[in-house]
Amino acid sequence: APVMAGRDFLSNLDMTSAELRSVLDTAASMKRGEWRGVKPLAGLSLALVFEKASLRTRTTFDVGMYQLGGHAITLSNQEIGLGQRERVSDVARNLERWVDGIMGRVYLQQTLHELADHACVPVINGLSDMLHPVQLLADYQTIEEELGSAAGKRVVYIGDGNNLANSHIHMGVLSGSDVTIVTPVGYEPNGGVLQGALKRGAAVTLTNDLAAVEGADVLYTDVWISMGQEAEADIRRRAFQGYQVTPQMLETIAPDGIFLHCLPAHYGEETVPEATEHPKSRVFDQAENRLHAQKALLYHLLGAAKPRW
Ligand code: CP
Ligand code: NVA
Repeated sequence: APVMAGRDFLSNLDMTSAELRSVLDTAASMKRGEWRGVKPLAGLSLALVFEKASLRTRTTFDVGMYQLGGHAITLSNQEIGLGQRERVSDVARNLERWVDGIMGRVYLQQTLHELADHACVPVINGLSDMLHPVQLLADYQTIEEELGSAAGKRVVYIGDGNNLANSHIHMGVLSGSDVTIVTPVGYEPNGGVLQGALKRGAAVTLTNDLAAVEGADVLYTDVWISMGQEAEADIRRRAFQGYQVTPQMLETIAPDGIFLHCLPAHYGEETVPEATEHPKSRVFDQAENRLHAQKALLYHLLGAAKPRW
């Protein structure tokens, strides 16, 4: 049965460890094909609101809704002008009359809270400046497939202390993984996210030392220049010199360790094509799992809703 019925999902910490377990178990059974022909979201619709570009998020939410028997409608910012053509609270109070859930990919995490405050249907974070929680569901599905339980595994994130880094810290809280974030000085992850995780007993380490990569069970990276940071491109490229995932670096992680990247990759910056092609790379399995993990999330958030028509 759905374990997060009717709730918002704006952060991984909007779920408990037990709920994460349920979502990942459902994702695995969906991937095995055990839900073929099952349509738990028949008659339900999800709005996909985009302020920024997307390949994976857009495709997997749309195909996921279709496979579960529901429907998705994509709204680009050119069309709806979130906060420009129309205020966010009005957009929320329109959408809630027509659809059963809202996925938002936005610049500001605050915009998601505004949508959630004004819409009675679940709001899902499809990436903000602060967090990317649906990505981490797929990432931990991949980690479990490759390494078994994530508890106690050394997950090393190298690069910018951005939305991905913050969500990695949250997953340390939920899964018991041992999370190390390696960044240049001045690019550390959000202080509030870190303090909150430490208070909850998570094993999180921040460092500027590249030697922390050695022996990692999972080595993870993301772009140095996130969407919206294009004006800082030159300073960032200089600041991140040396923090690049190369095949040589992958030789230093655990022998059965894996390399993950949420994609898209900016080759020549945080990674190189040879890392994507390396035997330790699982980046396309990870991308595939966006579909399974989000279908599982959608089932648990929307699976108890009745069609309203
Ligand atoms: N990883 C990820 O969210 O990809 P998109 O930006 O293409 O959706
Ligand atoms: N940190 C990147 C992730 C893209 C999926 C960004 O925010 O642009």
